[in-house]
Amino acid sequence: MNKLEIERLHFAYDKATAVIKGIDLVLDDRKTAIIGQNGSGKTTFVKLLKGLLRPDSGRILLDGTDLATLTVAQIAKKIGLVFQNPDDQIFKNTVLDEVMVGPLNIGQSRDEAMASSRAALAQVELVGVENVNPYDLNLAQRKMVALASILAMDTPVVIFDEPTMGQDVAGKAIIKKVIENLQAEGKSVLCILHDMDFAAAVFERIVVFSQGQLLLEGDAREVFSKKELLQQAYLDQPQAMKIAQALGIPGNLLSVEEVELALARPLR
Ligand SMILES: Nc1ncnc2c1ncn2[C@@H]1O[C@H](COP(=O)(O)OP(=O)(O)OP(=O)(O)O)[C@@H](O)[C@H]1O
Ligand SMILES: [Mg+2]
Repeated sequence: MNKLEIERLHFAYDKATAVIKGIDLVLDDRKTAIIGQNGSGKTTFVKLLKGLLRPDSGRILLDGTDLATLTVAQIAKKIGLVFQNPDDQIFKNTVLDEVMVGPLNIGQSRDEAMASSRAALAQVELVGVENVNPYDLNLAQRKMVALASILAMDTPVVIFDEPTMGQDVAGKAIIKKVIENLQAEGKSVLCILHDMDFAAAVFERIVVFSQGQLLLEGDAREVFSKKELLQQAYLDQPQAMKIAQALGIPGNLLSVEEVELALARPLR
C-alpha cells in the first residue's frame, strides 16, 4: 500500500523561525514532484518524512503507523531518500562498497546486497566503475552512485531531492526511466525538482511549496496552468507550455512531445 499521510506538520530548526508551517498532504499512487523556490522548506520536509528530523507538531503516518513510533532504522526499510548533495551520503572508498552500505544496513546478506547493488548500478548505467573511488567520479556520476545505493535498498517509498541537478540529457533520461520503473513496481515516488520541464514531462502530480506551506497541488496540467499563482511562488511554467501558449495552441501542454503532436494535427 505505501500510503504516506502528513497531517498539520510543523517544524523549526530555531524555535523563533518556523520552516514547515502546517503542511497537510496525502501521497497517492501518482508520481509526485515537489517544486518551490530556494529555502521554501522542501529538503526539510523530506528529512521529516525520512525521520532524520522529528516534527514539532503534527503527524506523519506510513500505512497508518505514526513515524514517531518507529526508529530511524525501521524507517530506513520503508523510505529511501536520495540526498540533494551526494557528498552528504558517500563515505566508502569504492563505488560498490558505497552502494552496498544501504542494503547491508537494512539487513540484506552480503550476497543479496552485492546482487542488488550491481543491479542498481546497471539501472543508473554505471557499469565498470565498481572498484573506482566515488571521489574519482564527477558530481553527476556521484549523484548516480547515491541514487543507486537507495535503489539497492528496495524500499516501498523512494524520495529524490533534486536528482536532475547537474545531469545532462542522457543523465536525465536515465533518471526518468528509474522513476518510471519504480512506479511500475508499485512503489511510491516523491521527487523535489527545480527543473519545471522535467517535472511536467515525468510527474503526474505537482505539489507547490511556498515559505513552508503548501500553496497549490494537483494534476501537473492543472497546476502548471496557474501562471499567476506560480509566479507568486517565484516559479515558472514549463517551456513547452509557454511555447504552446505563445503559438495559440490550447490545452496547457506539458512537454515538447505534446507540442509536436499538436503541431502535426491538421488545422481546421
Ligand atoms: N540545518 C539547518 N539549520 C538551520 N536552518 C536550516 C537548516 N537547514 C535548512 N535551514 C533553513 O530552513 C529553510 C528551508 O530550507 P530547506 O533546505 O528545507 O529549503 P529547500 O526548499 O530545500 O531549498 P533549496 O531549493 O535551496 O534546496 C531555509 O531558510 C534554510 O536556511
Ligand atoms: Mg533543498
